[in-house]
Amino acid sequence: MNIKGRNYHTIWVHPENDKIIQVIDQTALPFDFKIKNLTSEKDAYIAISDMIVRGAPLIGVTGAYGIYLALLNCRDENNFREYITERAGYLKSARPTAVNLAILIDEILDPVMQCNTLTDAVKVAFHKAAELKEREIEWSEKIGNFGCNIIEEIYNNKGETVNILTHCNAGWLACIDWGTATAPIYKAARKGIPVHVWVDETRPRNQGARLTAWELKEEDIPHTIISDNTGGHLMQHGMVDMCIVGSDRTTVTGDVANKIGTYLKALAAHDNGIPFYVALPSSTIDFSLTDGIGQIPIEQRAPEEVMWMEGKLKSGKTDQVKIVPDGCKIANYGFDVTPSRLVTALITERGICSANRKNIEQLFPDLSL
Ligand code: MRU
Repeated sequence: MNIKGRNYHTIWVHPENDKIIQVIDQTALPFDFKIKNLTSEKDAYIAISDMIVRGAPLIGVTGAYGIYLALLNCRDENNFREYITERAGYLKSARPTAVNLAILIDEILDPVMQCNTLTDAVKVAFHKAAELKEREIEWSEKIGNFGCNIIEEIYNNKGETVNILTHCNAGWLACIDWGTATAPIYKAARKGIPVHVWVDETRPRNQGARLTAWELKEEDIPHTIISDNTGGHLMQHGMVDMCIVGSDRTTVTGDVANKIGTYLKALAAHDNGIPFYVALPSSTIDFSLTDGIGQIPIEQRAPEEVMWMEGKLKSGKTDQVKIVPDGCKIANYGFDVTPSRLVTALITERGICSANRKNIEQLFPDLSL
C-alpha cells in the first residue's frame, strides 16, 4: 500500500543482502517512519513480542522468516533438525493469542525437516517464507473483493456514504498488504463507493489512532478517530452501517478472539441491529478449538502499556507521559472473545460464511480436522 505515494509491504528481504529481513517499525508510527533490520531469530522474536511488527498475519510471516534466520545462524550442520525444532518453540512463544504464528511456523518447518543438509534447509526456508508472504497478500486481496460486495450492497440500498466502524488495526500494517478489515474498504474506495471509517482509538496501545488512521490517511480514505467508548452512541444514532474487525484466532465454531474491546462493539452492534463482520484469512482459524472463551489463550501484557501513554509533545519530541496514580494495580488483557452468535458473518479468502462449524468446515474441508 501507499506511504507518501510509494508502494510498501510491511516485511521484505533486504534488496542487496538476503541475510537481512526488513520490517516497518510500527512502534515509531505515526510520528516517524523507520525501517528495522532483522538478522537473527532473536531479532524476529523481539520484533514480535515488542510489537515492532504486530497483527496476526504479519506476526505469522515474521515467524516464518525467523525460522529462515535461525537456520542461517545454525552452526551445527549435523543436528540442524533438533536445533530448528527448539528455535521454532522459542519463536512460537513470542505472543500467545494470534494462531497465525504457530500455523506458519509449522508450515515452514514441514519442508525444512525433509531437507538432507543445512544448506538445503536454508534455501528451502527462504523460498517457503517468501511463498507464505505472497499467499497472505493474495488472501488479503481476496478478502477485500468479497468484503467489497457487502459494502457495495449497503451502498446500493442506502445511496449515501457507507459508515464503517473498525477496532484496532486490522489494516495492511497488520498484514503484508491490503489488510483484512481494511481490504474491503480499500477495494470499495477504489471502485468509487463513498465510504467513511470510524476508527476506534484502541487503548492501551492505540493501534486505531496511531496505525489505522495513519494508513487510511495515506490512502486518502475519509475517516474519524473516536475514543473507544463512542461506538455504542454512534450506533444508537444510525451513524454506523456496519462493523468490520479482524481476528487473531477464530475457533472452528466461529468464536472470534480479537483486540480487547471488540466484544463490546459486537454487543452494541447486536443491540442496534448493525451487521458485525469479521475479516480473516484461514491462517487465523484454529480448527482444533471449539470454545473461544474457554480455550483461546488471552495475552496479558505489561502494566506499563496502560500506565504510560506515548505521544508527540508540543516541542515536537515524541515522549511518554504517566496517566495513572503511582502505586495502583493495573490489568492489561490484550484480547477478548466475541461469541459466534454476535458475528454476522466471516469474510475469508474463499468467500463469506456464517460463523458456525458447519459453514466453516464446508468452506475449508481440506483444513478441517
Ligand atoms: O496486539 P496487536 O496489535 O497485534 O493486535 C492486533 C489485532 O487485534 C488485529 O485486529 C488482528 O491481529 C487482526 S490483524 C489483520
